[in-house]
Amino acid sequence: MKKLNLIFLGPPGAGKGTVAKDVVERYGVPHISTGDMLRDAVSAGSELGKKVKSVMDSGQLVSDELLYDLVKDRLSRKDCNDGFILDGFPRNLDQAEDLDKILKELNLNLSGVIFLDVSEDEVVKRISNRRVCPKCSRVYNLISLKPKKDTICDDDGTPLIQREDDKAETVRKRYQIYIDKTSPLIKLYTERNQIVTIDASGTVDKVDEIVFNTLEELRQE
Ligand code: AP5
Repeated sequence: MKKLNLIFLGPPGAGKGTVAKDVVERYGVPHISTGDMLRDAVSAGSELGKKVKSVMDSGQLVSDELLYDLVKDRLSRKDCNDGFILDGFPRNLDQAEDLDKILKELNLNLSGVIFLDVSEDEVVKRISNRRVCPKCSRVYNLISLKPKKDTICDDDGTPLIQREDDKAETVRKRYQIYIDKTSPLIKLYTERNQIVTIDASGTVDKVDEIVFNTLEELRQE
């Protein structure tokens, strides 16, 4: 069986984190979300967190240099030897080059890029209804993935919050940045014959099913 060394690509709110969580449950590979790592740094008040907070809140991209070190350090860890999901990196063509360099240095190969394809309107709907637990980071949706009670985390009872960059005006900006900077990666990985496009407009269960089938095929190749 081939290892699952994956990139999850897609617009903000496509469901990358949601599907990744389910893939982790099934295959046990680590989920490396650069957004989560940066948000953790902000919550911890670290030097990195102080540097990136305002950039993230405004929906802009953090500098490539900071991401390079963060991703290289994470992929160097032992748990990535048996597979990984990169979610949110690379996010532009320069970062794709950086990733090539990192993978080469660490002697790792990419198995495939899973592109979660969803329309802008669906993305805006999903994001405006997203709520997260500030304590455990669990992600909910007021329409599709409701907490059991009001807006309280099922796991630890903490009141859910809306991410600062999920405010309506910032979401449109993030989507435009995705179109300008990130979507060229679709062409790059298509030319390399590494991308699989998934229709991610269905329910979470439906998207999971398509992704699991795709991953089984990738493992067999
Ligand atoms: P990041 O956290 O990576 O944000 P993103 O790419 O914008 O992705 P999201 O987390 O918004 O969405 P998602 O696709 O994971 O969707 P989710 O599963 O939550 O990055 C945040 C910021 O960090 C960036 O703006 C930037 O500043 C910085 N950053 C990060 N990486 C960087 C990099 N490489 N370079 C530079 N800067 C970087 O789902 C969304 C909602 O929809 C949820 O409520 C969920 O419950 C719901 N949902 C999911 N799937 C479905 C479905 N099938 N049907 C209905 N609802 C669904």
